[in-house]
Amino acid sequence: MTSKVIRPGQTIGILGGGQLGQMMAVEARHMGYRVAVLDPAEDCPCASLADIHIQAAFDDQEAAKQLSKVSDVITYEFENVDLEVARIFEAEGKLPQGAYSLEVTQNREKEKQVAVEADLPVPTYRIIHSVDELEAAFEATGFPAVVKTISGGYDGKGQLKVEESADEARSFIKEGGTYIVEAWLSFDLEISQVFTRSQSGEITYFPIAENIHKNHILHESRVPAMISESVADKARDAVKRMSDHMNIVGTFAVEMFVIGDDVYINEMAPRPHNSGHYTIEACSISQFGQHVRAICGLSLLPVHTFPAAVMVNVLGKHRNLLLDNLEKYQGIYLHDYGKKEARNHRKMGHLTIIGESLEEIDEIIENNNVHLW
Ligand SMILES: Nc1ncnc2c1ncn2[C@@H]1O[C@H](COP(=O)(O)OP(=O)(O)O)[C@@H](O)[C@H]1O
Ligand SMILES: [Mg+2]
Repeated sequence: MTSKVIRPGQTIGILGGGQLGQMMAVEARHMGYRVAVLDPAEDCPCASLADIHIQAAFDDQEAAKQLSKVSDVITYEFENVDLEVARIFEAEGKLPQGAYSLEVTQNREKEKQVAVEADLPVPTYRIIHSVDELEAAFEATGFPAVVKTISGGYDGKGQLKVEESADEARSFIKEGGTYIVEAWLSFDLEISQVFTRSQSGEITYFPIAENIHKNHILHESRVPAMISESVADKARDAVKRMSDHMNIVGTFAVEMFVIGDDVYINEMAPRPHNSGHYTIEACSISQFGQHVRAICGLSLLPVHTFPAAVMVNVLGKHRNLLLDNLEKYQGIYLHDYGKKEARNHRKMGHLTIIGESLEEIDEIIENNNVHLW
């Protein structure tokens, strides 16, 4: 495939103007691209960076057409893009990432199927459409298990852990919905492989991060992940097989569980990922920069990384403490997304610390009291 090259001065359209859109836009502007964003919120994080802001709902097809009209290439910051709209963009030759990887990643069943087709292990699962099917599903998965809505979940929303009885899940199942029931794996650690694939099929990998969640929300990503070379090879190999299989373009993330020497696929995101934010400071090219290069039909840059990095999310409940004491923080890079409303568990920004080792970084985290968050 010969890819269309997007050149500085041309316009990158972004569906979604949250923090991921914002960080993509920063990289795009560094490279001389113009940016158009579609987002319903007047003061979305990307608004002040975009040359054009189409303020409309994500399912507004007229607005999507308008975005296409002003853009030479289109990308997105979230996977729940209307597939019909994505297919129109693709047919216009403006969506190098394609509609297929959206179709897969917006549906947990398809995600699992792709992993299985690529011969990769996933937790035992069953798809159900009604309460009556719960018992049989749990018989297959055993307890504990987790029930998840088939689409639309994030940050632990739309899922329920079930300890020992189908009764616990009955009220969670809504008439007409589709759910996936998964065996709950007691993993050693969670990791993610963020990588970028160019339009010619070249792949660059960012270092694998170890991800620590609090209240189902990513709290910290740590690099290097404490995994053996063989686990790292398995993770990269899994990602390579899936990405060739899906013909992925752009930056993409795969979340995995590690148990002993085995790697299980959990989730995928067809876009830059929270666990890859550390790449902004710790790598010679960030997940956002590499993404922009991929969708613009450019070659990827080699990734060189600092020996160690940690990213910590700043939620609504931490933000004031942080901003009021900013001058006291030492050795920490700050990103604030400029969101007005600081809801408790809303991602408002993140911190990055880079250094020679994780021990050195943990000391900085402790000295700055970030470990208390
Ligand atoms: N099958 C499972 N076994 C063990 N832990 C799980 C399982 N599924 C989800 N989790 C935990 O819940 C977190 C969120 O689940 P995930 O499927 O990644 O949904 P999302 O990130 O969209 O909320 C995971 O990062 C993991 O910590
Ligand atoms: Mg997840």
